[in-house]
Amino acid sequence: MSRSLVLAIESSCDETGIAVIEDGRRIVSNVVASQVALHAPSGGIVPEVAARAHLRWIVPVLDEAWLDAGITWPDVSAIAVTHGPGLAGSLLVGINFAKALSWVHDVPLIGINHLEGHVYAAWLHDAAAADTEDERGDPVFPLVALVVSGGHTFLVEMRDHLTYRLLGSTVDDAAGEAFDKVGRLFGLSYPGGPAIGRAAEGATARDRVFPRAWLGDSFDFSFSGLKTAARRIVTEARADAGLTDDPTAPLPEPIVAELAWGFQDAVVDVLATKTIRAARAGGARSIVLGGGVAANTLLRARIADAADELGIPLIVPRPSLCTDNGAMIGAAGARRFAAGERARLDLDARPSLPLAAR
Ligand code: KG4
Ligand code: ZN
Repeated sequence: MSRSLVLAIESSCDETGIAVIEDGRRIVSNVVASQVALHAPSGGIVPEVAARAHLRWIVPVLDEAWLDAGITWPDVSAIAVTHGPGLAGSLLVGINFAKALSWVHDVPLIGINHLEGHVYAAWLHDAAAADTEDERGDPVFPLVALVVSGGHTFLVEMRDHLTYRLLGSTVDDAAGEAFDKVGRLFGLSYPGGPAIGRAAEGATARDRVFPRAWLGDSFDFSFSGLKTAARRIVTEARADAGLTDDPTAPLPEPIVAELAWGFQDAVVDVLATKTIRAARAGGARSIVLGGGVAANTLLRARIADAADELGIPLIVPRPSLCTDNGAMIGAAGARRFAAGERARLDLDARPSLPLAAR
């Protein structure tokens, strides 16, 4: 049987990612050009700058992914490209590139929802991973998936492939957005998520408690109150440290570590508690975690412990497959290709494309 290779292209936000995926799960090559350093000075993504950077990097990223994979065009069964949600200008770079390749090489094109990619990263097997991830089994249905990224935070139930029921989502900020904004308040570098995670590891005191928004029994999330609380807690901490008169003076490192721990604990507590409650309520047989915030060590550990108690497996990709990459788009693309889906050459960017309805 000839192998099925999908060339996958991701450019929805600030990473240009291109991967070659075999049989929907094996990573043949996966190259990501990150724009983190480019956006760090402004403390957030500048859409116009992001789109231009995709344009600059997309050809070199393809060249590298192609060389790594050692393939030729007749080997490629389909081209999968993220068509939403994301930044319109950034999406259009990937979409137009994919269309040109599809037309020139006469290879079918498939449009993929970026959020579906984050979920399908859980099906990737990665021979390059040095740990046991390659040994783990596939997610089993029904499952509950928590997707937590810079732009999205939601829980979905999947009873089969490619079908989603929305259980809950954020009513305001995404979890990653909260990490990024609060990281800035703490004086940490961009992006705030990894910086807060690292700072929290050094916490010796854990006395500052941040509020949790439980929103009753719902599976919805809210992080904007936490951001406001963080602002107040930082002001108090600065006063305690005698820094009120000097707004430019950084908070001492041990205090930043304590604040980072308290904030991270609050976000992780709500995310983990609701995920486990949803899994229990729906009789889930596995839990999937995806999106950039799923790279967070505490979140992974808390949900892993709780899933263990429930007696069901947690499937969470290694951190570099949780943040944006082409491989996850290839995993979803292969699944949709096998289901007979094809996009036409008028495929357009859909900046607000949803994944699921309630
Ligand atoms: O999925 P992603 O790469 O891009 C989007 O689709 O948004 O997610 C990026 C987000 C950022 O907000 C970043 O701060 C957060 O993921 N993030 C983390 C960690 N690594 C990345 N948040 C918490 N802990 C981390 N280790
Ligand atoms: Zn993402």
